[in-house]
Amino acid sequence: MSQTGPSRRIETRSVHVGRTADPSGAVAPAIHLSTTFERDDSGELRSGFIYGRSGNPDRVALETVVADLEGGAECIAFGSGTAAIHSVLYALAPGDLVLAPRDAYHGTMHLLSTALARWGLRTRFTDFLCPDDVDAGFAAHPALALVETPSNPMLRVTDIGAVAARCRASGALLAVDNTWMTPVLQRPLEHGADLVVHSTTKYFGGHSDVTGGTVVARRDLAITERIRAIQTDTGPVPSPFDAWLLRRGVKTLPLRIRAQSKRAAALAGFLAAHPRIAETFYPGLSDDPGHAIQSRQADGFGAMLSFRVRGGEGGARRFMSRLRLLVRATSLGGVETLAEHRFAVEGPTSPTPRDLIRVSVGLEHPADLIADLEQALA
Ligand SMILES: Cc1ncc(COP(=O)(O)O)c(C=O)c1O
Repeated sequence: MSQTGPSRRIETRSVHVGRTADPSGAVAPAIHLSTTFERDDSGELRSGFIYGRSGNPDRVALETVVADLEGGAECIAFGSGTAAIHSVLYALAPGDLVLAPRDAYHGTMHLLSTALARWGLRTRFTDFLCPDDVDAGFAAHPALALVETPSNPMLRVTDIGAVAARCRASGALLAVDNTWMTPVLQRPLEHGADLVVHSTTKYFGGHSDVTGGTVVARRDLAITERIRAIQTDTGPVPSPFDAWLLRRGVKTLPLRIRAQSKRAAALAGFLAAHPRIAETFYPGLSDDPGHAIQSRQADGFGAMLSFRVRGGEGGARRFMSRLRLLVRATSLGGVETLAEHRFAVEGPTSPTPRDLIRVSVGLEHPADLIADLEQALA
């Protein structure tokens, strides 16, 4: 009993897609902790499920709604965003070339340049905003381009449709990490991407209490079966409770991400006008270099922003030490606003400016958040 239909809006689908009738009449779904599933007396599986690693009802409920929201044919849910990204890349072959952003989640860059490089995958770190770099990248015949937009932590906006056109012309696949936007604000498959990955640890969970990841694939994509097989063979699956928590988080995702984005816009406006701030990175600012593309390809600007504090690394560290309401922690997407000195998190080889602070804006009242920023900058 799927409570959906093509005409239903995203708020409705977030609540109802994949909802099934429980024999007890319970409105909230049960959690299925069983690791194995019974056969009938003729040896047939009763439900289609065999064993917890290859699938379970809680995971399918999550996969069904995420595929629907992204407009994909299917979704595979993982135990983390990193596991999801790894499985996509591991479904390529040793010797294949990946075009990956220069400015992206540092864990993805680390994975590409260590474990996957040792396995034989080649990576060309590419500035997708630089036409010469993009030309040189596609001239090298990549098997896959991986795009993250807006980027982490500099909020640079890549034109998904333009990269998709280059991929189509050269026979490469396009995967987009849509963690920062969620399908509420941006649906890369509509712009020609083949795969969408998420760290569902962030906005899908929404409460900083569950780790997960997803891969969503467009219809008729050969690599999808390989990704699914890699998951079954290597085992990075979400627990039933994690899948259940994530499905619950999706119900409020549209409301949360829109409210958080509204607060982020207020904070970005305050920071952009503040004399102690050297630069503010937020595509919702009308003079941001990514503003026009973001306005065209997304339904909002998101709830992440970065800024450079005057006074160099010392200024940034002082700012961090003075925060009273914003929580000093890495990650993003939760209801509490988090701030981090990104260079310190990424380590000494990081290309991130040493005076950069990254903020994940939560659901607190914007006036309280601005008051905390103001006193920390005073
Ligand atoms: C954009 C992005 N992609 C992927 C990941 C990795 O996700 P996870 O921590 O769930 O493995 C992160 C984590 O911060 C991220 O920000």
